[in-house]
Amino acid sequence: MPDTKLAQKLTLEQKCALLSGADTFRSRGLPQYGIPSIWLSDGPHGVRKQAGESDHLGINPSEPATCFPTASAVASSWDPALGEEIGRALGQEAAAQNVAVLLGPGLNTKRSPLCGRNFEYFSEDPYLAGKMAAAYIRGIQENGISACPKHFAANSQELRRMATDSVVDERTLRELYLTNFEIAVTEGHPKTIMTSYNLVNGTYANENAHLLKEILRDTWGFDGAVVTDWGGSNDHALGVKNGSTLEMPAPGLDSVRELVKAVKNGKISEADINARLEELLTLVETTSKALEKAPKTIDWDAHHALARKAAAESIVLLKNKGGLLPLNPENRIAVIGDFAQTPRYQGAGSSMVNAPKVDSFLQVFEQSGLKTVGFAKGFDRYGKADPALQAEAVKLAEKAETVLLFLGLDEVKESEGLDRSDMKLAKNQIDLLLAVHRANPHLIVVLSSGSAVETSWQSHCQALVWAGLGGQAGAGAVLDVLTGKVNPAGRLAETWPLHCEDNPSYNNFGKDGRTVQYREGLYVGYRYYQTAGVPVAMPFGYGLSYTTFEYKDLHATPTGVSLTVTNTGDRAGDEVVQVYVSKPDAEIFRPMQELKGFARVSLEAGESKTVSIPLDDKAFRYWNEPAGHWAVEGGSYVVRVGASCEDIRLEATVTVESSGDANPYIGNSLPHYVSGQVQDVPEVEFSAILGRPILEEKVAIDRNMTLGEIGHGRSPLGWLIHVIHKHLLDKSLKAGNPDLNLLFNYNMPLRAIAKMTGGMVSMGMVDGLVMELKGFWIIGILRVLFEMVRNMILNASMEKRLAEKKEDK
Ligand code: BGC
Repeated sequence: MPDTKLAQKLTLEQKCALLSGADTFRSRGLPQYGIPSIWLSDGPHGVRKQAGESDHLGINPSEPATCFPTASAVASSWDPALGEEIGRALGQEAAAQNVAVLLGPGLNTKRSPLCGRNFEYFSEDPYLAGKMAAAYIRGIQENGISACPKHFAANSQELRRMATDSVVDERTLRELYLTNFEIAVTEGHPKTIMTSYNLVNGTYANENAHLLKEILRDTWGFDGAVVTDWGGSNDHALGVKNGSTLEMPAPGLDSVRELVKAVKNGKISEADINARLEELLTLVETTSKALEKAPKTIDWDAHHALARKAAAESIVLLKNKGGLLPLNPENRIAVIGDFAQTPRYQGAGSSMVNAPKVDSFLQVFEQSGLKTVGFAKGFDRYGKADPALQAEAVKLAEKAETVLLFLGLDEVKESEGLDRSDMKLAKNQIDLLLAVHRANPHLIVVLSSGSAVETSWQSHCQALVWAGLGGQAGAGAVLDVLTGKVNPAGRLAETWPLHCEDNPSYNNFGKDGRTVQYREGLYVGYRYYQTAGVPVAMPFGYGLSYTTFEYKDLHATPTGVSLTVTNTGDRAGDEVVQVYVSKPDAEIFRPMQELKGFARVSLEAGESKTVSIPLDDKAFRYWNEPAGHWAVEGGSYVVRVGASCEDIRLEATVTVESSGDANPYIGNSLPHYVSGQVQDVPEVEFSAILGRPILEEKVAIDRNMTLGEIGHGRSPLGWLIHVIHKHLLDKSLKAGNPDLNLLFNYNMPLRAIAKMTGGMVSMGMVDGLVMELKGFWIIGILRVLFEMVRNMILNASMEKRLAEKKEDK
């Protein structure tokens, strides 16, 4: 608990000042009261502390830090203990760099495989994502600093990310987009949480009383600090009233005046400020104490070794025809593909880590003693056809017994701020694969990507290994799996569809306009494919091993299952046992089955173990919206245990007591939601589960107009800015080198100019700009100038007052 007397000693202005950031990554301090400023730094798979020039898009350099595999890779380990170990290492590195709040993990539910930030997130399944996130949080916070799970909530796309409204029915919101955060908060106990940029059902996440007060604080018992995403605060006063603590990055003192004014005119109360201040001071005090004690040196080699272990545990063997893997050490190998030389090991944007060293496959391969005929680059990384590179690779393949071909998505394809437009590998890579396969069919593809790709080409390789984005030591992990030193046990944490168009949200993702309608409802990922009977390339939970496992003796009750798993092969290995719950006779529509438990088990060759997996309060519940609570449909449920969502080995029926709720859907005609055929849900049906009509959207000329929309204004100046901005952006996109700054600004509401410029621009100046865009050309410009001078004068006097101590006056 912070010194409560301290809060009483501060002026209202000083209290309000503490509720916004001082610069890109630091909170404000009041040194005269002994309140330090603390560092908040990204991120999810490595510390990105920028001591010099800083930015929130990973553009400027940061201090060296271990780059662990990204969340999408580690989720495939299905191993929370590993997540906790990585979290612990992240926490140590953060503390050694004096970082009090580490901005991660990212745990948004993957609604579409096209989301540009999927590599930063765990899974399409909220249970798996929640368990992994909770583990990271426990690890990060072990030394007393804070993790900051993000982005809360329903933040599933990058397109117009600061301005979209996620329109989602309450049941889907609770079951799919909040259950992950619920597990992370109630089992990980984070000291902070980051809100998302978007609106949720018409209200910005950061000022959403339903999300922040009713659910996060009152129901889940979160008592820490809520932090905005960078520039994600819309109305700070409303945010504070509804539970948001710290506005980042640096809105300047204008934001302090906004809060003071809101208290004075009764929009919010001083008690609201005091409540948020207590959260903030607790955070500052506890993390600062932890930082004082934390060791300032890091065992870099140990963290590199952990990064390698984590990557190896997460690699998924997708195909192994004829047991081509593990490699035969007698065979001469051709290594082909740019990614073998220059690894693709993390994604672009705010999560980008400056790794002290990055292994390449070629390096580790050279040291392995394996026989080789050499290396060929094979293709241009950014997709340009290059017949000479291809010909050289084919020639090399002809000389070898086995070919290792390294393919993947390039850096531009997976980035914050930009969604993918398809799920394809570049054409030049597929052409190369076909040509090499013709020359030598003993072909193993190693694929680097942070998310699912289409694999229509997979019949042209004998083995397929998904390496994810394996972090700085990922190359060694690939070698370990290829040679059999590590028996692969990763299992996909997201479905790989046959075609991108098969995706349930395909017709409602990445479209024009601000409203993103989550019409597919509960049917995301395998929940859709299995219910609607749509075949997939690689199912959720799937992955092969070099050994085999047998499941037997299942005993199931409503509180858990136990079974015996035996390693029936001739080498040690791990199996991921998955528990799905299904209700074939359900009256209340639901997915065909849902993951409700899992365990990763290590078994020596021939060994048997009894595996017990608990079923918790989330196993049978559904959200009953009219009643406003979790409910349980009574009767029999089938508990299905298997090695993927499609490979169910054992089943048992359990009887579960009803919560006594009546079917909330009686009287509604919901054929698409009942059948799971949700790609084209008609408006009337979506509206029925939403409980309201879908509002028409109009572009308004106000503080929330985005820079990309100012062409809709009535100002020639606005039109000019729009044309230039769009031209530069299109140019960078066409050149295959998207400018993240231009992209961010394009989708940024005008008010964020005030929120992100450290006090240079005030909301008054933004209002002048809005007048200008409304067609008041001269008055608009004059107002901007007037407000600029006013802002400077007010800032200078406030700076002085903030530095004072009450008793000094
Ligand atoms: C991202 C956050 C990140 C923040 C600070 C934002 O653009 O959405 O995930 O933590 O920047 O870098």
